[in-house]
Amino acid sequence: MSTNIFDIAKIRDAVLKCEKCPLKEFVHVPGDGSTNPDILIVGEAPGRTEAELGLPFVGASGGLLRMFLNLVGFEKEDYYITNAVKCRPPGNSTPGMLHIDECKEHLDREIMFYKPLVIVGLGVTASLALSRDSSPGYRISDYRGTFYKSTFGGIEYDIFFTYHPAAALYDKSKEGIILSDLKTLKKFIEKKIG
Ligand code: URA
Repeated sequence: MSTNIFDIAKIRDAVLKCEKCPLKEFVHVPGDGSTNPDILIVGEAPGRTEAELGLPFVGASGGLLRMFLNLVGFEKEDYYITNAVKCRPPGNSTPGMLHIDECKEHLDREIMFYKPLVIVGLGVTASLALSRDSSPGYRISDYRGTFYKSTFGGIEYDIFFTYHPAAALYDKSKEGIILSDLKTLKKFIEKKIG
């Protein structure tokens, strides 16, 4: 594809028209948020509400995520939210490596366009898209709360992982961990901005 990475409208359009993997049959949801984000947040894939509204993280887990971000002092202008996989998998199934790999081009373009201060991966699917670590036994609990480096388009970025907010909908003990991780992220960004 010859999409110009310097044009977000073209990136969105390429997502909406994408036919690269079997999920092409399902609703396509591009990223959304600040036009000058410090943070680029990556989730798994759109859910039912996201597919209905055409926007990422606007359902129950999105509400929780936005509340957590607000609680630690982030404003809407601070972040852009997208998903590792842009189409809603049937029956709310977890996307596979094929879907993650085929969708990576869109995520890479969003990162290269926005050049955020930090990229935040929520849960395992986002981690697989960002870190390419698919070793057996890979668990987000071993990875979360820590900063890593990864290169996109020749630029090295700080990457940070935490649990997917949906995990906190089922397991309340994860709420405190996600909040604590987001506080760590806030301090990191404040230090980086100076
Ligand atoms: N979960 C995700 O991973 N992404 C969304 O957009 C909504 C729920």
